[in-house]
Amino acid sequence: MKNLIDIKDLSVDEIQELIKVAKDIMQFPEKYSERCKHKKLATLFFEPSTRTRLSFESAMMELGGNVLGFSSADSSSTAKGESVSDTIKVVGGYCDIIAMRHPKEGAPLVASLKSDVPIINAGDGGHNHPTQTLTDLLTISCEKGRLDNLTIGLCGDLKFGRTVHSLITAMVRYKNIKFVLISPEELKIPDYIKEEILDKNKIEYVETNDIEEHMDKLDILYMTRVQKERFFNEADYIRLKDYYILNKEKLEKAKKDLCILHPLPRVNEIATEVDDDPRACYFKQAKYGKYIRMALILKLLEEADWYEYR
Ligand code: NCD
Repeated sequence: MKNLIDIKDLSVDEIQELIKVAKDIMQFPEKYSERCKHKKLATLFFEPSTRTRLSFESAMMELGGNVLGFSSADSSSTAKGESVSDTIKVVGGYCDIIAMRHPKEGAPLVASLKSDVPIINAGDGGHNHPTQTLTDLLTISCEKGRLDNLTIGLCGDLKFGRTVHSLITAMVRYKNIKFVLISPEELKIPDYIKEEILDKNKIEYVETNDIEEHMDKLDILYMTRVQKERFFNEADYIRLKDYYILNKEKLEKAKKDLCILHPLPRVNEIATEVDDDPRACYFKQAKYGKYIRMALILKLLEEADWYEYR
């Protein structure tokens, strides 16, 4: 059975196919409105979420399916001490597919080893967030018309930002991708990403703490929030949280066709004055998330059925 735990679980061709299906769904939604009739998606969110959980639920509803689940560990039997493995085994009996978010890195992988139904990682700690990456790829494909030949600036919390880790992992498979990694010293990209992903794939990148230094070269600027919940110490968070605030002035040298992305939620890292700039794509990006999740649910359910009837 196929799960989506890491973006690398999907080949470049499979991602291309998902993007193609998502674009077809956007154009002809009625064709898909009953494709998941009688199927159920469980969203098991042990950590807060707005977009990811609701876009998954809305995706399943638009496919004609049903949804069940919980939105915090406190409202599930985890509060009574139940293990993730036991929760997964039980919930697998009530649904056909599970989207799961957990504060512990690796929890969705462990769940997938115990599960009878496909598991989608909807974010595990500071590690990975593959469905946000699929959302980002669909957005880039729609807004820029390509996934290759791009200089991508990633700005903010590159240490704990799981969306950044998954996006880099995905993008290094396309041709002529360069990265500008913009962060304060304390929030630099982890060494394992540099060594295992960037260096191994001979990817060109620079690290800087100055958001304006390479602004004129960027095709994409991916802003991120400082991940408060992953800090051990409140004082460090307060010192770093407003390190970058993207405003009109900082965009002065940027390309006319720059695409500004943010997985959201935004705190202060993009001034609201930027929202009206035609280059601000972050709210569109959130919308694209529903369509790519529809494509993903279809793919994983089709594969699960195929295994069952083989
Ligand atoms: C991101 C996440 O959960 O990692 N949000 C999301 O899924 N859209 C980014 C964040 O929380 O900062």
